[in-house]
Amino acid sequence: MLRTTLLAASRSHGARKLVESTPLTRPVVERFVAGSTVDDAIRVTSELAGDGRYVTLDHLGEDTADTSQATATVDAYLRLLRRLETAGLAPKAEVSVKLSAVGQFLPADGEKIALHNARRICSAAGVVGTTVTLDMEDHTTTDSTLGILRELRADFPWVGAVVQAYLKRTEQDCHELASQGSRVRLCKGAYQEPASVAYQSKAEVDLSYVRCLKVLMAGAGYPMVASHDPRLIAIAAELANAAGRAANSYEFQMLYGIRPEEQRRIAERGNTMRVYVPYGDEWYGYFMRRLAERPANVAFFLRSLATT
Ligand code: FDA
Repeated sequence: MLRTTLLAASRSHGARKLVESTPLTRPVVERFVAGSTVDDAIRVTSELAGDGRYVTLDHLGEDTADTSQATATVDAYLRLLRRLETAGLAPKAEVSVKLSAVGQFLPADGEKIALHNARRICSAAGVVGTTVTLDMEDHTTTDSTLGILRELRADFPWVGAVVQAYLKRTEQDCHELASQGSRVRLCKGAYQEPASVAYQSKAEVDLSYVRCLKVLMAGAGYPMVASHDPRLIAIAAELANAAGRAANSYEFQMLYGIRPEEQRRIAERGNTMRVYVPYGDEWYGYFMRRLAERPANVAFFLRSLATT
């Protein structure tokens, strides 16, 4: 119920104005967001890289409604990629891109514009020697995002994508994606989805996650296990062993600010641990999805409003 309310609020203009105008929100947001500038992104990336973690950077933004905003987002990624190169961080950090931030929902030619913009980001990433992963948004975008992924991979075979275990289609998508060189980030899924397309209970989502993991670990691609769930992380490690995978043939991923000790522990035991680091001013949708994932975060948020 709380999850549904928070996810509905994540798309409400009124709720957004209310939450953003509360100055006391900021310290809570900072738990999940690296900061608002590219300098913040670089600082946090160097800190994480300093203790052996890898990074994927998200310039926050989604559901862009005008072309100039989409172009500004591309420019922000190009600046970020140049800064990663200058700081010597490109081998440790890639970027994650939401296609809706680069134009996918624009009324005329949205998909074409998103593909063109994603290509510009991929070209720049290729020049500095890093990779790009396409985030996955709600289920109405899955076909479009996977279609754009196919087009991009023809020129940039290292482009990865996210798939969401809560969608009933995802096991089949994993079969199609588990090919040589294909980077697939498997997560549970963070949006409000109808029962016609998505499993609704945690148990069903977890079972689907394990089925997808089995397909990806047995396949020829590069699985990226994006979860903070200790049980699924242990199962992923067992499946990787059973498939005879070397430690460098798959990786674990978590979100910035969530289970940092576990992130360090996984990196220290010799696995690749990549942290998803969002930065920028458009934190509202991302922040609300993090609150929705865990009721304790709401209590933490409300407590800080009461005590600050
Ligand atoms: P689950 O929600 O069951 O959490 C397991 C445990 O992790 C919890 O008990 C708690 O300890 C901790 N935890 C989880 N979430 C927390 C939170 N918000 N605050 C504090 N603790 C928390 N989704 C999507 O739809 N599209 C996408 O593109 C992506 N991309 C993405 C990239 C990466 C690298 C990650 C790790 C996740 C995503 N997600 C995503 C989000 C994902 O779908 C999912 O909502 C969250 O990862 C939470 O699910 P868990 O697998 O962690 O399990």
